[in-house]
Amino acid sequence: MLTIERLRPDHAEALYAFELTNRAWFARSIPDRGDAYFAEFPARHAALLADDSCHFHIIRDTDGTLIGRINLIDAIDGTAELGYRIAESATGRGVAKAAVTQICHLAATTYTLTTLTAMTTVDNPASQAVLTHNAFAVVEHFTLNDRPALRYRRDLGVSG
Ligand SMILES: CC(C)(COP(=O)(O)OP(=O)(O)OC[C@H]1O[C@@H](n2cnc3c(N)ncnc32)[C@H](O)[C@@H]1OP(=O)(O)O)[C@@H](O)C(=O)NCCC(=O)NCCS
Repeated sequence: MLTIERLRPDHAEALYAFELTNRAWFARSIPDRGDAYFAEFPARHAALLADDSCHFHIIRDTDGTLIGRINLIDAIDGTAELGYRIAESATGRGVAKAAVTQICHLAATTYTLTTLTAMTTVDNPASQAVLTHNAFAVVEHFTLNDRPALRYRRDLGVSG
């Protein structure tokens, strides 16, 4: 059973290790954060914590290990953009699907949002499967970082 925790100051060390360990893994699917992100990590972490328009979370495995991040970005007028990334060592066992299910519930209840959007590139079938499993529907085809991409939307009144 995984748990989702709202991002806190004391997550910094584990989060840095998570990002560094999985840097090459993430860069296979999504843009690399760049060297400056790691060099300036404490300031970047503090900036996230100060941003009250976003809801940042970590995902912990049953043994407490930080295995992912799941975030609601720009929560404005009842809508936010969902984003997530899972450690390479934890992929392929339903973590993202379960975390998205949990965050949709949190979004509707704790954060009183009514819709979520998400986007992924066409060459990321695992992410597409995660969104489809959670009742997100494709609403737009577009180009993201020079790659064909899909925008998804979910009405949080719809169970997934
Ligand atoms: C994409 C990512 C979030 C998936 O996390 P995960 O915990 O492995 O996902 P889950 O195990 O919950 O579900 C993955 C689903 O994709 C499916 N899948 C995986 N690889 C696939 C492929 N090549 N083709 C089709 N489906 C695939 C799995 O079968 C599973 O679906 P199913 O259970 O219905 O069979 C994770 O690999 C990741 O963080 N990647 C790097 C960053 C990233 O891409 N983030 C998302 C940006 S939009």
